Amino acid sequence: MGSCSVSVIVSVVGMPLPPLLVLYGSQTGTAQDSAQRIARQAHRRHLHVRVLPLDDYDVANLITETLVVFVCSTTGQGDPPDNMKNFWRFLFKKSLPVGSLSLLDFAVLGLGDSSYPKFNFVAKKLHKRLLQLGANILLPVGLADDQHDLGLPPTFTFHFLYGDEVEVKTEERRLHPVEPSVPFPARMLFNRRVTEKSHFQDVRLFEFDIAQSNIALLNKNLLLSVPARLPQPCTVRHLVETYLDISAVPRRSFFELLSTVATNELEREKLLEFSSAAGQDELHSYCNRPRRTALEVLADFPHTTAELKMDYLLDLFPEIQPRSFSIASSLQAHPRRLQILVAVVKYKTKMFKPRRGLCSSWLASMDPEQGDVFVPLWVKKGSLRFPTEKETPVVMVGPGTGVAPFRSAIQERIAQGKMANVLFFGCRSESKDFYFRSEWEELKTAGLLRLFTAFSRDQEEKSYVQHRVRDNAELLWDLITHKNACFYIAGNAKQMPSSVCDALREVFQQQGRLSAEQAEQMLVTMERTGRLQNETWS
Ligand code: 2AM
Repeated sequence: MGSCSVSVIVSVVGMPLPPLLVLYGSQTGTAQDSAQRIARQAHRRHLHVRVLPLDDYDVANLITETLVVFVCSTTGQGDPPDNMKNFWRFLFKKSLPVGSLSLLDFAVLGLGDSSYPKFNFVAKKLHKRLLQLGANILLPVGLADDQHDLGLPPTFTFHFLYGDEVEVKTEERRLHPVEPSVPFPARMLFNRRVTEKSHFQDVRLFEFDIAQSNIALLNKNLLLSVPARLPQPCTVRHLVETYLDISAVPRRSFFELLSTVATNELEREKLLEFSSAAGQDELHSYCNRPRRTALEVLADFPHTTAELKMDYLLDLFPEIQPRSFSIASSLQAHPRRLQILVAVVKYKTKMFKPRRGLCSSWLASMDPEQGDVFVPLWVKKGSLRFPTEKETPVVMVGPGTGVAPFRSAIQERIAQGKMANVLFFGCRSESKDFYFRSEWEELKTAGLLRLFTAFSRDQEEKSYVQHRVRDNAELLWDLITHKNACFYIAGNAKQMPSSVCDALREVFQQQGRLSAEQAEQMLVTMERTGRLQNETWS
């Protein structure tokens, strides 16, 4: 992210500087990083700054604040990140008096992805609401876009009328858990490879024992965290090994901070270049494209690394973020158990060592047969909503690991006597990565599931789920228009959801003799009324 470069002039010469509050809502840590960068810039200019996740801030105090920058991302369906959900609910209460925020000067920076229809929805809505409540706008809402500018944090730059540049001081950072609820240490029951041995991808089905927890799973996604609780006191080794994300690709702020410590001229120059707006292309080629880790970067700057003091650690490295997976099982089918389907992330770049996903590799390395393995986890509400009426059919399109939330839904629905289940599943090869094959076949035989498959590499021509959708135009038209079916798409293939929607439009045009505009309208209406939903991840 980083296309957004805005400037603001605050403060009047001679007046005391107002304290700045930076509040953020962050799901993956990017908004948090941007918020911290803004705070550092302001701190450098002698402002008294506080940075907090929105839900850690007592929102009733907002009426007395005079200067606040909000930094927030928008998640897939246009929802706010988890750590601003309470704030969000409060802010939209009808009882809040118009004009109650008249003391407040504010700016909103949104982080989003323009490939999603609800691009930066949260930031825009927040901006509007603050204006409505009487707050004063400092600058137009900043909309940073993940699709542009190399996936780096935005330069949301403040120019203050006075205050010379001084060296950045590291501030003590409070360690706060990302998620308010306390994770449950679930015992791993099995770790089973579900792709054939020779298949290029290692995909695992994990099962956890959640008998002692009060986890209820209906419509929930699982959030799974790698251990992130720090013992007190904590050794530096423990901190670096289990808490700080030293293997993530570093953000621009990492280079900014290093440049303030560097005394070696060559290294300092390079670091300054990487921190500057003009150096972003080069930083991208050096860091993001080969997925170079923070640790590997430090090895390239040995003089600066030798100068680093311990207290820089918390500023340099972000905390390891919890990972989120769709739950692949239902409690009805697997009482007191919870399953997830995880592709073990591993790929090559020009770096010598293959890149590995931190959480998936860690999980895959666990062997519950060699001794107890506990994984701290908790659940949060998922985005997919299934119909409560027994007769309403559901059509689910879930290629690859996208099938996980549908397995959970199908098990749950069948246990509730809901029999109208249609699944489109796609994978590379019938014999290599056809997850849960025997289960689907059993359900099919029992008349509880209609299954359509697309094996992309078992023949010359690619065969994808969207092709099967087109082949079954008549059935789908009937289900959607006569039986009020709901349609779901889940998965991680980038182009897949839009290709499936294209196929649906064609179905509507062909079967309903609709024009392109009418088909589009029908799709939009389905989306608006919750009859077309998707859950995608990368
Ligand atoms: P491929 O890898 O042969 O291209 C699960 O990953 C399945 O989704 C695989 O069969 C994969 O096929 C397929 N897939 C990849 N890109 C897709 C797309 N844009 N639309 C639909 N399916 C896709």
